[in-house]
Amino acid sequence: MKQIRMLKKAMNERYIVPAFNFANFEILRGVLDTAKELKSPMILQISESAMNYFSDELLSGIIQAIRKIKHPISIHLDHGKTLSVVKRAIRLGFDSVMIDGSTLPFAKNVKLTKSVVDFAHSKNVSVEGELGVLAVSNDDGMLSDGERFTSPKQAKEFVALTGVDSLAVSIGTNHGVNKYIDEPKIRYDILKKIEKEIPSIPIVLHGASLVEQKYIQDINNFGGKIDRAIGNENLLKNAYKTHICKINMDTDFRLAFTSAVRKYMSENPEKYNPRDYGNAGIQAVKECAKYRIVSICKSNNRV
Ligand code: G3H
Ligand code: 13P
Ligand code: ZN
Repeated sequence: MKQIRMLKKAMNERYIVPAFNFANFEILRGVLDTAKELKSPMILQISESAMNYFSDELLSGIIQAIRKIKHPISIHLDHGKTLSVVKRAIRLGFDSVMIDGSTLPFAKNVKLTKSVVDFAHSKNVSVEGELGVLAVSNDDGMLSDGERFTSPKQAKEFVALTGVDSLAVSIGTNHGVNKYIDEPKIRYDILKKIEKEIPSIPIVLHGASLVEQKYIQDINNFGGKIDRAIGNENLLKNAYKTHICKINMDTDFRLAFTSAVRKYMSENPEKYNPRDYGNAGIQAVKECAKYRIVSICKSNNRV
């Protein structure tokens, strides 16, 4: 199973495999070129809504094309919620899948995840499960820290009961641009306890985008409106020293692309060829990917 080999290598050599989502062709082009240039392995992630955006027909062509590239790239289903979307992804040629039962009660999460593991492993596809709930603190007011963050003891039980190959955990990060209400903080103390309970399981960190303020400023300066954006800037510098072997970033590429396109369009009002502003977007995505590969993941020159 391709992805799990990639993650175990990263674990042994102490780096992180970047797992970048692509929401459109330009982001795909930008991250792919950068991974190749920097000799970094990469996981390309696609959510169910991104699958629908591309259409299965086109996506299967894209996947076949990516498979021909001589570079370690794994294609991964992000946040699959049902066995049926997992089967769809496997039919399309994905190397690995995530089954996200994190909002379900523990027993139901185990049942769903185990059913996916049984199916996926029979097809030589690896599985990422999730335990703990990614939710902005106080936002819902419903979850206590104990319910929200991954319990190290339950993580051990979950892995034993389901047979997942990697585990996504909740240690403070959140999806999107508004990651924190209070002081930004990742609970590395909880991560350490999880690592002790499941020492050989690669850990996955979702909601890892940095949300650099330069992107927010450009978006807002050129007609956009994004409020209270706050991400993981400065919080992931030492993540490569832990068992986090895969970090998920999607928002950063959306921000990089959108800020560059807004700026380009504002400064070049006479342009209307999508390839003109698309190229500006690709360049911004490349720069964004480079920084994350080199400074956060340390995954360059690992191929
Ligand atoms: O974690 C979620 C990903 O960012 C995917 O988001 O469903 O809008 O593609 P999406
Ligand atoms: P961000 O929203 O921080 O980019 O997280 C993406 C993610 O976790 C995809 O699964
Ligand atoms: Zn996620």
